[in-house]
Amino acid sequence: MGAIQELELQLNELLEKKFEERVQGGDAVEPRDWMPENYRKHLVRQISQHAHSEVIGMQPEGNWITRAPSLRAKQILLAKIQDEGGHGLYLYSAAETLGISRDEMIAQLHSGKAKYSNIFNYPALTWADIGAIGWLVDGAAIVNQVSLQRTSYGPYSRAMVRICKEESFHQRQGYEIMAQMMKGTADQKEMAQDAMNRWWWPALMMFGPHDTESPHAGDAFRWKIKRHTNDELRQKFIDKTVQQAEVIGLTVPDPDLKWNEAAGHYDHGEINWEEFRNVINGDGPCNKQRLDHHKKVHAEGEWVRVAAAAYHAKKANKN
Ligand code: 3HC
Repeated sequence: MGAIQELELQLNELLEKKFEERVQGGDAVEPRDWMPENYRKHLVRQISQHAHSEVIGMQPEGNWITRAPSLRAKQILLAKIQDEGGHGLYLYSAAETLGISRDEMIAQLHSGKAKYSNIFNYPALTWADIGAIGWLVDGAAIVNQVSLQRTSYGPYSRAMVRICKEESFHQRQGYEIMAQMMKGTADQKEMAQDAMNRWWWPALMMFGPHDTESPHAGDAFRWKIKRHTNDELRQKFIDKTVQQAEVIGLTVPDPDLKWNEAAGHYDHGEINWEEFRNVINGDGPCNKQRLDHHKKVHAEGEWVRVAAAAYHAKKANKN
């Protein structure tokens, strides 16, 4: 190794040490700050996957806009789906501050290099599924995202603060749909329970693999990207959601679920990790449909991007 390379290595080690001290001390990292290359890559992966999840998540719900059972329900669903699109935009913008372009992120989604949440590869079969998505899926997302409000990267943390405010409205509108259906006819109650049965386990999978199987956990904690582990957040979600289910008369589809007085938590049955792996690796019930649809509308929207870029270029020339 030459003398210059050795000096560069030493400088890098020093910068990394200082960076870790700053982060451990609670400082936020901003786009222009020095950061280790692996910290940048970790965030690009996580934030872009998060953004893709928000946008792909519009599909199962968008399917129900024309079939919402009342004008009020339709207005609420439309507003919620628009919010999700907005969340995707905040998150793509946060990822762009790390030096990746929107085009690159979309290309990674389309090639399968970037993942999106397992949950959006399941179909929304009935109106009760819209309730279950709002209540369970957005409910799980909030538990995770409240914790991410204190993540170390400033633009990500600020996006989370805004997103969490909207997600809590989403969770409540979903719970309201489920509560209303549980006050309805026998068929409506059955429909609500069926949606609960189908969405419960995939919602638990949203928190990711068990802590012992989570390859990114080490770096995520070292750099304070994550503040709580996958299992801690999953447990938090279970503890609050079981009680909400009981209040409206829904049964959690887990025969092993029981309150553990000593631990102060619910014990629960094992998650089907084989199903999780299949779904996140492209083999879930709707993976192909979701990606094909995204590719199609992205191609159809090309003219909008071209027109917007031309407008900006013209404006910049005038100034
Ligand atoms: N779906 C798809 N992939 C998942 C996953 C899930 N639920 N959970 C974990 N994975 C993947 C990881 O991406 C990683 O694969 P990769 O190396 O190819 O990226 C692998 O499984 C190992 O998982 P780790 O636990 O080591 O990964 P992380 O430390 O990144 O933890 C996470 C996973 C908890 C999902 C974390 O990335 C995270 O907190 N992300 C931000 C939150 C997010 O993405 N939420 C999307 C939910 S939906 C949503 O917000 C929309 C709302 O409207 C409902």
